[in-house]
Amino acid sequence: MRSAARKLGRAGVHFGHGTDNAIDDAAALLWHVMKLPADAPPSVYERRLTAAQQQAFAALVQRRIEAREPAVYLTGETYFAGIPLRTDRRALIPRSPLAELIETRFHPWVEPARVTRILDLGTGSGCIAIACARFFPRAQVDAVDISPEALQLAAENLRRLRLGRRVHPVLSDHFAALEGRRYDIIVSNPPYVGAREMKSLPPEYGHEPKLALAAGRDGLASVRVILREAALHLNPGGILVVEVGNTEAAVRRRYPRVPFVWLEFERGGGGVFLLTREQLESHVR
Ligand SMILES: C[S@@+](CC[C@H](N)C(=O)[O-])C[C@H]1O[C@@H](n2cnc3c(N)ncnc32)[C@H](O)[C@@H]1O
Repeated sequence: MRSAARKLGRAGVHFGHGTDNAIDDAAALLWHVMKLPADAPPSVYERRLTAAQQQAFAALVQRRIEAREPAVYLTGETYFAGIPLRTDRRALIPRSPLAELIETRFHPWVEPARVTRILDLGTGSGCIAIACARFFPRAQVDAVDISPEALQLAAENLRRLRLGRRVHPVLSDHFAALEGRRYDIIVSNPPYVGAREMKSLPPEYGHEPKLALAAGRDGLASVRVILREAALHLNPGGILVVEVGNTEAAVRRRYPRVPFVWLEFERGGGGVFLLTREQLESHVR
């Protein structure tokens, strides 16, 4: 594992798709080859790889370096909010800081017992919708995406986790297919990468769907629609939570009078704002 990590480091691969350093990246590949559970005890470090496992591991490390394919696409699996998920090139690799907020049930912004309807806008692999369903066991969750391929992967994850009765994949361009539906929480990790930043992304991002990343010239194409239409789909007292990553600066500049609350995360990451329905309504007016 150490020798693979050194190779990855020397090759200058980019980390940030579910792992953020060379050792974790190498471990993800090795764990996959050895079919180890994520919570394997330290005694596994004593194990020896069979010749076939050594070969398979070396091949994965090589592919990681040559094709710059993120480790999690090579293994086809990851964890989000502690939940195992399938991942492949049909959808973005789950890595949103929103996992932490969902695990704490959006504390202190909602009363969890009152949350019965949640919307995940731009669901991709389904990670956010699935985590919401797990942490709000009484809620129904709509999982919206414009990409039929992403929704297929989300549906596969739902089936494996037996959440099909509470999480509903919906093919829709933003809110277009949601007329009349209202929610207690709208949560979204929409595309938010501007045109210039798209050109400078490390090659690993080229394996992810462009639709999941690119958001027009200024990165605000999706955020603009969400800010305009979300209030119509929120119940009184409902909240909107949106990840915009480092497009935060552009959002602040473009909407200087909107009273965004920028959330902080213990496990890192940022660029996530929260607004109440009432704040959104006054923005729209
Ligand atoms: C940044 S990815 C987030 C995926 C997933 N929620 C996550 O956190 O890993 C954005 C998602 O929004 C979807 N999307 C892009 N434009 C959309 C639109 N106009 N309406 C609905 N979904 C859209 C993309 O297909 C993609 O799955």
